[in-house]
Amino acid sequence: MHNDIKEVLYTEQQLEQKVQELGRKISEDYQGRNLFVICVLKGAFIFMADLVKHITVPLELDFMAVSSYGQSTKSSGVVKIIKDLDVPLEGRDVLIVEDIIDSGLTLSYLIDILERRNAHSVSVVALFDKPARRTVELTPDYTGFTLPDEFIVGYGLDYAEKYRNLPYVGILKEEVYSKA
Ligand code: PRP
Ligand code: MN
Ligand code: MG
Repeated sequence: MHNDIKEVLYTEQQLEQKVQELGRKISEDYQGRNLFVICVLKGAFIFMADLVKHITVPLELDFMAVSSYGQSTKSSGVVKIIKDLDVPLEGRDVLIVEDIIDSGLTLSYLIDILERRNAHSVSVVALFDKPARRTVELTPDYTGFTLPDEFIVGYGLDYAEKYRNLPYVGILKEEVYSKA
């Protein structure tokens, strides 16, 4: 285990099993539709890569980069689009892939933009959800794990851009962010 991690919350195996389960559900629901999967960079990149391997219906995918946290552990409330999509969404059944929903600001902003581009439908899959931290109303269509209000890293999730490469999800030691 990494020295900055207090506790492993979900092992590689637990994550793999959940992602498989989500992929199976999504495959059932998107039969005969026009699935377009959008990865919200950077946090969702590992989840996205693993999830699409378990989706068995035809799909296209793209990446969007937005950021609201920067170097801090708190959302600034300002969502910046850093990289936009390369294709129009008209008639597509959009599935936004997020690693985690906290305040809900990032996603409510994204959903709003994508709906205005005349997507046929817009849904959300989030691997992690912290409903207790919500400041705007938002419920994902698919959720992996519901979490208490603890700062987690790994499997794509960062603290100050670090720890994204950990294959498991863990709770960061308080001393790591209190000295920042
Ligand atoms: C994190 C996370 C979600 C968002 C959730 O991204 O990956 O995208 O914050 O928070 P919210 O519900 O309060 O908006 P971040 O802005 O840290 O960028 P990153 O994905 O590049 O780490
Ligand atoms: Mn993110
Ligand atoms: Mg982040």
